[in-house]
Amino acid sequence: MFLHKELEKYFKKRIRSTSLWEESVKVLAGGISHNIRNLNLPLINAFPPFIKEGQGITVNDIDNNSYTDYWCGHYALILGHKHPTVINALREHLELGWHFGTVLENQTRLASQIIQDNPGIEKVRFCTSGTESTMYASRLARAFTKKRLIIKARMGWHGANDTLCYDVRYPFTGQDSVGLLSLEEAGVLTFDIQDNMETIDLLIKNYPNDIAAIIIEPVLGGGGGFPVDIDLLKFLKEVTIKNNSLLIFDEVITGYRFRYGLYQNLINVIPDLTCMGKIVGGGLPCGIIGGRDDVIEMANPQNPNRVWIGGGTFSANPLAMVAGLKTLEEVRKQKFEYSRINKLGTSLKDRLNSFFQENNLKFYATGFNSLITIHSLNRPLSDPLPLDLVNEANKKREALLNLALLNRGIMGMHGIGSLSLLHQDIHIDYLMDVIEEISPIISSFEF
Ligand SMILES: Cc1ncc(COP(=O)(O)O)c(C=O)c1O
Repeated sequence: MFLHKELEKYFKKRIRSTSLWEESVKVLAGGISHNIRNLNLPLINAFPPFIKEGQGITVNDIDNNSYTDYWCGHYALILGHKHPTVINALREHLELGWHFGTVLENQTRLASQIIQDNPGIEKVRFCTSGTESTMYASRLARAFTKKRLIIKARMGWHGANDTLCYDVRYPFTGQDSVGLLSLEEAGVLTFDIQDNMETIDLLIKNYPNDIAAIIIEPVLGGGGGFPVDIDLLKFLKEVTIKNNSLLIFDEVITGYRFRYGLYQNLINVIPDLTCMGKIVGGGLPCGIIGGRDDVIEMANPQNPNRVWIGGGTFSANPLAMVAGLKTLEEVRKQKFEYSRINKLGTSLKDRLNSFFQENNLKFYATGFNSLITIHSLNRPLSDPLPLDLVNEANKKREALLNLALLNRGIMGMHGIGSLSLLHQDIHIDYLMDVIEEISPIISSFEF
């Protein structure tokens, strides 16, 4: 009955989205351009709303339904939509033109700012996406070390490039997509972040001369916001030094998300290379590989053995450079707000879990500071490990949760998403009220 009523309510208020979805599935594979953007709603015979505009943390769809946005452009919009400083700079820049394919003042300015903010970044190379940045960082590592293998964490998401799209999804068969080489052919090894150091050490010792790099998100973002144990990160740093391999941090999500600057500075584990994107590009298409001068310099075309990275038409996209510079300028001014949203996110996670546990519900919240994920499960779990959560994930329950949230004016993805500097207690209180209303009903469904 609940499902039926929620669907009825949803469709009634989304007449234009309904017909646009019908058109979309005819012309786009699955109606989408990024796999998670359907919110799993087709599993319960619904579809995602088509968003037409955003302001601050409100987004409106083409049927004029409004939502408080917890997705914030794949975590990229820490200032919310259309921040005045960013939009004014973008408007000014649009008047000058939007694509030259040349060197640009702003690319040097943004590179200098990132270098100034982060001791581990001595030089950078821009590209257009996080996906490209992790692919290029891996290539640089292979070239620099003259070794073959890249080690990554299971569940770690570095974009869907052919280099690293391995063991992202449960049950970690090493074959995340048809069309990819096998793990062995691709030269990739994987480990669990919950493995102890001895296990990882053994894995590395099996290939004493072959490890080019270990790449890891210091907080597994897409997986659910799981901070990797700092001792484990320190250990990875030590073993890479010992093996003449490189440590690569994927800070595409964590860069400038929890503090002004990279997360690595906070935990004082400085990798050889760092991948960035999202916030640093101000919410426009951007990827960055930064790190040791001697490694990044391998991409210098003057270098007779240069590593070919970043041949992109839109590399260092002029608008992304402007948006990135202005975003960093603005978050620098507001840097004291980081601790507020970090606390807000932590308290949201705690409140969610208290409610889920007290009522024995099939949900569990994970996250770190301003990153929040609600996992929809097959059965209630208390104190689960990350792998228990993916093992017990229930996509239909997640779809119904998403639908019920949308019906109540909340836009999340991937089990909610992240907080921006604009989210306040009042938003969190409303989200909690909604969760307390709907989650017991949704939990009782036998999907
Ligand atoms: C940690 C991480 N690395 C890499 C990527 C890929 O970045 P992009 O989507 O900009 O290609 C993402 C995207 O979500 C990410 O979360």
